Amino acid sequence: MALLSHEGAPGPTERDAPEPLLSVRDLSVAFTTARGPVQAVDHLSFEVRRGRTLGIVGESGSGKSVTSLAVLGLHTAAEVTGSIRLHGQELIGLDERGLNRLRGRRMAMIFQDPLSSLHPYYTVGEQIAEHHRVHFNSRRAAARRRAVEMLAEVGIPEPERRAGEYPHQFSGGMRQRVMIAMALACEPELLIADEPTTALDVTVQAQILELIARLQADRGLAVVMITHDLGVVARVAHDVLVMYGGRAAEQAPVDTLFATPAHPYTRGLLDSLPRLDDADDEPLRAIPGSPPSLLAPAPGCAFAPRCPRAAAADASERLRCDTERPPLGGPAGHPAACHFPAYEGVTS
Ligand SMILES: Nc1ncnc2c1ncn2[C@@H]1O[C@H](COP(=O)(O)OP(=O)(O)OP(=O)(O)O)[C@@H](O)[C@H]1O
Ligand SMILES: [Mg+2]
Repeated sequence: MALLSHEGAPGPTERDAPEPLLSVRDLSVAFTTARGPVQAVDHLSFEVRRGRTLGIVGESGSGKSVTSLAVLGLHTAAEVTGSIRLHGQELIGLDERGLNRLRGRRMAMIFQDPLSSLHPYYTVGEQIAEHHRVHFNSRRAAARRRAVEMLAEVGIPEPERRAGEYPHQFSGGMRQRVMIAMALACEPELLIADEPTTALDVTVQAQILELIARLQADRGLAVVMITHDLGVVARVAHDVLVMYGGRAAEQAPVDTLFATPAHPYTRGLLDSLPRLDDADDEPLRAIPGSPPSLLAPAPGCAFAPRCPRAAAADASERLRCDTERPPLGGPAGHPAACHFPAYEGVTS
């Protein structure tokens, strides 16, 4: 797979509404733990329109899953503040009944681990049918027909027979397809896919990404694709949000991000991608150091201890990186949270 070539996801369609389908503003999520408060997401803002895919990328622990669970209103023991609007309707503070009406019908999620999200004691067909019945109040036979149709749509061979099998009888790639079938059975407008291809080999990964892209083109779905793999982002996303330590490090249209990354962290992620012209024995270039502690955040830029730009800075610049938290600034369509961002034509 040519990891660095953006294969041109389809552009906006005429179904594009001027208003974003999902609009997240100043979202913060904090957990209380025995070791103190954990600020897992800190003032995050983004939006997604119909027919578009937002890629959210970042290292393990950067807050990607916590963000997606917040959109679905699935944090019961966390303090969630800010605003999450779906079609203009505020979701934060909405009661469980209101959220349940939206989950499944208007927004659906493919979870990071398909096995733990499928019930081992019910057949795959029963689980998809039940999901449909709950949301559409459909009759058993109709729901069951819909389950078989959905299995066929996501490319499961012999869907009639496979609907009667249990999750453990499916391969990892097929379980992931089942998750997609379940998520799409109720025709949501927003699909949040949390690492839908991480555990899969590259061929199955490509099939799953193509499947989501086809369903998006057919239905004008808005997609949030969460991944730590910039290769996946290059293939499917229109816009990208790079997260670091629970915050936005950089946001840009995908081509801009790949051509001119402004934040040293994004640059580091891009440099760690394998290239087709790499010698076989060349080791992967990971970003040295480890992600920041969310328990006791440093006062300055969270990336400063690992940042090559900060390491090369003079004393006064370095002091700024170490003591002042950089706000998200820069051009409107391409903000970055860095005191010395590398924008085109700007020497930092
Ligand atoms: N229920 C919880 N209670 C306390 N801390 C939590 C809870 N859920 C998540 N966290 C913390 O929030 C931070 C962000 O977690 P999150 O699951 O969003 O990471 P992620 O970006 O999805 O990582 P990965 O790529 O490994 O899936 C982590 O430090 C995690 O330990
Ligand atoms: Mg996660």
